[in-house]
Amino acid sequence: MANMETMELQLNNSNETLKLGEIIGKSLNPGSIIALVGDLGAGKTVLVKGIAKGLGVQEEPNSPTYVIMNSYEGRIPLYHFDLYRVSSEDELFGIGYDEYFFGDGVTAVEWADRVQGIFPEHTIKIEITIPESESEGSETTRNITIEGRREWVLSFKNTAEQAFQT
Ligand SMILES: Nc1ncnc2c1ncn2[C@@H]1O[C@H](COP(=O)(O)OP(=O)(O)O)[C@@H](O)[C@H]1O
Ligand SMILES: [Mg+2]
Repeated sequence: MANMETMELQLNNSNETLKLGEIIGKSLNPGSIIALVGDLGAGKTVLVKGIAKGLGVQEEPNSPTYVIMNSYEGRIPLYHFDLYRVSSEDELFGIGYDEYFFGDGVTAVEWADRVQGIFPEHTIKIEITIPESESEGSETTRNITIEGRREWVLSFKNTAEQAFQT
């Protein structure tokens, strides 16, 4: 889409992923929704922990095995979905997912690629990849791609670049 923008950044360790999440959390508004994509162990939950912190959530989100969604109170409520065990959109319809996806909280969805086509247009898509070769970094290096509305991405990019300047 024409009004979309993408940014990429490389993170060196999980503290940086937490930090990125925290900056993202601070930049979100009621109704924001984040679709997270990345292999097992990529760092999606770590990023959500940071987002929670940025939203002023006191608890630390984790990935419960048999629960699809956990909610947390913060500056804005956080709805944390983990769709690892979900194989189709039908399974989400039964739990009234739309109340969260299209509500006034912030929604963060791990394994967003399990259900395509149900995300609103303003969804912020974040892909985390682990570099395949060691020449690209260490074991804790992660490549991040963030895609969203142009206006949000450009302003976020500015904030993130300042925060990661050493
Ligand atoms: N740069 C990094 N960002 C996030 N996690 C990292 C990073 N480097 C190493 N890790 C480790 O990878 C694991 C990521 O776990 P988790 O966030 O649960 O992954 P996911 O939710 O994507 O399956 C953690 O054990 C974390 O310590
Ligand atoms: Mg996880």
